[in-house]
Amino acid sequence: TVRSMRMTVIGCGYLGAVHAACMAELGHEVIGIDVDPEKIAALQAARAPFYEPGLPELLERTMATGRLRFTTDIAEAAGSAVHFVCVGTPQKKGEFAADMKYVDAAVDALIPHLGAGELVVGKSTVPVGTAARLASRIADRAPDTEGLAWNPEFLREGHAVEDTLTPDRLVYGVDGGADTAEGKRAKALLDEVYATPLKRGTPLIVTDYQTAELVKVAANSFLATKISFINAMAELCEKVNADITQLADAIGHDDRIGRKFLNAGLGFGGGCLPKDIRAFMARAGELGADQTLTFLREVDSINMRRRIRMVDLAREVCDGSLIGRRVAVLGAAFKPLSDDIRDSPALNVAAQIRLQGGDVVLTDPAALDNARKAVPDISYAETVEDAVRGADVVLLLTEWKEYRDLEPATISGLVKNKRILDGRNALDPARWRAAGWTYRALGRPRA
Ligand code: UDX
Repeated sequence: TVRSMRMTVIGCGYLGAVHAACMAELGHEVIGIDVDPEKIAALQAARAPFYEPGLPELLERTMATGRLRFTTDIAEAAGSAVHFVCVGTPQKKGEFAADMKYVDAAVDALIPHLGAGELVVGKSTVPVGTAARLASRIADRAPDTEGLAWNPEFLREGHAVEDTLTPDRLVYGVDGGADTAEGKRAKALLDEVYATPLKRGTPLIVTDYQTAELVKVAANSFLATKISFINAMAELCEKVNADITQLADAIGHDDRIGRKFLNAGLGFGGGCLPKDIRAFMARAGELGADQTLTFLREVDSINMRRRIRMVDLAREVCDGSLIGRRVAVLGAAFKPLSDDIRDSPALNVAAQIRLQGGDVVLTDPAALDNARKAVPDISYAETVEDAVRGADVVLLLTEWKEYRDLEPATISGLVKNKRILDGRNALDPARWRAAGWTYRALGRPRA
């Protein structure tokens, strides 16, 4: 059996709320803290403040045990053995660098409540060097604590609960590395936190702060690069009428390459990959390694070009102009199983089409409310049927399962023109063409 620890989770967004609930599920006593009273009120009522499969059930279950509660009062952190920092590090306005104000504020607010032997654990994605900076701040102002560890988080939205309960690996960045006395004490505390996944054989890497920080941004940069690589190949496929999905299958069979994260289409968005690669470039510049990450600039450009290409394709099939065209958009979230619209390729394409005079009607199973707030000047529909009625062209931009499974027959009678653009290579071209539709996609042959 796992020894139950008392722990604090500061920041109850996509990362923190899930982390708090999962830690309670592992048997710990957890207090989630956030400055947003609305978020806390929702969580305290066992309601998830955002869409995440499995989270509502998990909140319900763990809160019923009495092991999990939420508060806006940072003073309630006092007495926890471990304090997780899970606040956001968004991109700064007008620059590439990450904005560290939430992390700094969280640590500053926490310090007066830290007691002897307690450990602060950073989980946010941060520029390399942040942990050392925060560690010395904690050492100065709360010297009898165990100080700081850096424990990056690799969860995917939409799979956050399973990724947290059964991670691929655990990484601890500890003061001075695994062999110092401080490092060993921090490791012992984290081993207690993660006793359940460790017992199951989850790979563990114990290292220094800077390596742990870099692991996270390296992983995200690699994933972003993989997506942009396949999207660059898709650009070429478009030039010669080749098929990117078959190309991806063929190269993916080589397990040195692997088929995962080789889905060409509109590219990556969300609250992590885009801002993380930009912050990484900014940090490399500060470190005097400007040239090292210039390829990530290319990764970013390839990614952004896909959105432009999608708008161009829509204009092309509408005979050269989007003005007054009814454009039905399926999907607003940056990916399926999420209501997150941060840097969403789908929403960006919808907004660009609007700017070019298109009459956009968008639908999404989870992200409609968020989309409405972010892009108020397009129309929204609750159902696919309502979205596509009278459409000159239908765009599939987020590959929710219900859109992937869409039968041409269900909407053929509703649209004005049977034209569908598949921004995620999620549909079967043959099926749509057989039903009399013009099917176009990013990186697939014209017909
Ligand atoms: C990502 C990382 O996967 C995760 O490990 C990290 O902790 C946070 O950032 P997330 O942003 O939730 O997670 O989404 P992910 O599933 O990685 O997808 C990112 C974007 O890439 C989405 O917009 C998705 O549509 C796109 N994508 C993904 C592709 O375009 N093609 C692919 O093959 C895979």
